[in-house]
Amino acid sequence: MKENDTPSSRPVTIADFKNARQEGRRIAMITAYDTPSARLADSAGVDAILVGDSIGRNVLGMPDELPVTMDDMVRATQSVVRGTKRAMVIADMPFGSYQCGEDEAVTNAVRLVKEGGAHAVKLEGAGRVIDVIERLVDAGIPVMGHVGFTPQSVHALGGPRVQGRDRETAQNVLDGARRLQSAGAFAVVLELVPISLAGLITNSISIPTIGIGSGPACDGQVQIWHDVLGLSEHLYRHVRRYADLNTIIREALSNYVLDVSSAQFPTHEHAVRIEHTVLEGLDADERYPDNKRSEPLDEGGPSDD
Ligand code: KIV
Repeated sequence: MKENDTPSSRPVTIADFKNARQEGRRIAMITAYDTPSARLADSAGVDAILVGDSIGRNVLGMPDELPVTMDDMVRATQSVVRGTKRAMVIADMPFGSYQCGEDEAVTNAVRLVKEGGAHAVKLEGAGRVIDVIERLVDAGIPVMGHVGFTPQSVHALGGPRVQGRDRETAQNVLDGARRLQSAGAFAVVLELVPISLAGLITNSISIPTIGIGSGPACDGQVQIWHDVLGLSEHLYRHVRRYADLNTIIREALSNYVLDVSSAQFPTHEHAVRIEHTVLEGLDADERYPDNKRSEPLDEGGPSDD
């Protein structure tokens, strides 16, 4: 879906996902975790923003997604929603928030919608979680599924690995996607699935497939903010870098440090002046007049504020 496919005043809905699939338009999704990033993604025309639990690795300095809490996700979702006018905001349910029983899962998903402002939630897997997904859909919460490599199962899967290389695991991934569709999911993320399997799944279900590391046969793509903008350290095979912000930001900050340490910034134009007479009336005691600033604090020009 491109920006002009839906009026800029009209938010993207799950109906737009369905239409995009039927009309053969690709769905562009990206993660974001805060308001300024969401504002940029939204104005660039992305169809959906995923408030991923990848916030753990990319923003919170955690080793993986597992320690991310519901409070982390609610706060990040609120921030993203504040920066978004058109894109659909999908919030990840973090590890532990939907595995401990259906009632607790519904309560947590409701929090993401009610407190966070999410338009939909995403859950990983297609086993026992199917019952939870049915309950959520029944409660009126749109659900995006996620199969293939599921980061919350990183230890069980033996690391971030392509899923579906052999017949048994390929069948599992395919069956999982089908179960998600039957449970009422409106779309499914295929992460690290071989290209041909992703194509087979896409042709076997009617809901849109959103790939990451799964090749060009999917109906849409989701990428991590930090990866595509060059803010992560590692360049993964499935990433195309559209900018090298690490370099740009580091250079900018080095220049800032240089300017501050050499007294090139701030200058008088970055602050406000007052009349000398204001200071004359103050009860002050200049005990430390030997500081090394080269210029007087105030030239005594006209007040500009
Ligand atoms: O948390 C996340 O960013 C995700 C994407 C990898 C799909 O789940």
